[in-house]
Amino acid sequence: MKKCIAVLAGDGIGPEIMKEGLKVLDTIAKSFGHTFEYKEALVGGCAYDKHGHPLPDETKAICNNADAIYFGAVGGPKWENLPAELTPERGALLPLRAIYGLFANLRPAVIFGPLADAASLKSERLKGGLDILIVRELTGGVYFGKNKVKSIALNEGSVQGEYAVDYMIYSVPEIQRITKVACEASMKRSKKLTSIDKANVLESSKLWRKVVVDYVQKNYPQIQLNHMYVDNAAMQLATNPKQFDVIVTENMFGDILSDLASAITGSIGMLPSASLSETGFGLFEPIHGSAPDIAGQGKANPLAQILSGAMMLKYAFGLGKESDAVEKAIMAVLEDGYRTGDIASAATPKDKILSTSGMGSKVAEYLTKT
Ligand code: IPM
Ligand code: MG
Repeated sequence: MKKCIAVLAGDGIGPEIMKEGLKVLDTIAKSFGHTFEYKEALVGGCAYDKHGHPLPDETKAICNNADAIYFGAVGGPKWENLPAELTPERGALLPLRAIYGLFANLRPAVIFGPLADAASLKSERLKGGLDILIVRELTGGVYFGKNKVKSIALNEGSVQGEYAVDYMIYSVPEIQRITKVACEASMKRSKKLTSIDKANVLESSKLWRKVVVDYVQKNYPQIQLNHMYVDNAAMQLATNPKQFDVIVTENMFGDILSDLASAITGSIGMLPSASLSETGFGLFEPIHGSAPDIAGQGKANPLAQILSGAMMLKYAFGLGKESDAVEKAIMAVLEDGYRTGDIASAATPKDKILSTSGMGSKVAEYLTKT
């Protein structure tokens, strides 16, 4: 199979973890007889520095002509105070999601057995591992609320000064299409689906709940559906995560809960994501940020980036066997005790603590062994 991949490494640790992601993809290509053509492009702060915009036209052109987008991470203190539309987040990442209609964000939160002791919960609460799939709506809600009013100076009566408004908007079709994605995933798993909202306070959540109930009853009566308010869901995730299988939720709740889920699994450096459009086009990125504090030191964990590559193989190219091979190699590397600093414990022998590139090479080596 021949595929063209837009490679957008971004800022901070992005380039160093991306290098390892590509190393593993190269190994897959060699072992399974595929050709992956990489088209590198600047995105985020580095693109702003060079071209004056975090998402330059030539980057968009490369993405338009690619079969998938492989993304690292963007942002950093250097670009935080730019006008909103030029920041890496609001000028590049969110527009990429919008331009390509990447409404379905799949964020698996899985504990790899050998890492159970790195997890933040007592191991009896995680007996038998953990395997949750968070399905986050990614192109709606408060992130993309129309008529966003950033700040208005009021000058009436006693109220004076600035205020800011962010609209949280959801329409019925937007809720239905993400519910469908969650239901399809749920049907392949335990058929247990939890929809998370704040229907006791928000109108958008009341609509969310009504639409999810109707959609599931009508189309997937086999699915056992339950609902949770987001505050309770945070508590439940932190205390009894094993009650969850597939979670479906709106954009901002999914953002917050997926960081929480990553902490439960041991490290944010382990969690990949896939952002998919209705046609199946996708962007694949780790859920963590650009970690400028450790950039360039060879300390970053590349596994979330590598696992995002595995999701690309599976969801964008239909290469399930290849994707499984990557996951298996990672499992074997971890079982043999290899760790990056973030997932090492006091008991990890020094010679098993690997740098960013050491970990990427180890996964590639195990791939060719198995
Ligand atoms: C994520 C990130 C982004 C988000 C930021 C960088 C805009 O936190 O992908 O979870 O909030 O969606
Ligand atoms: Mg986030």
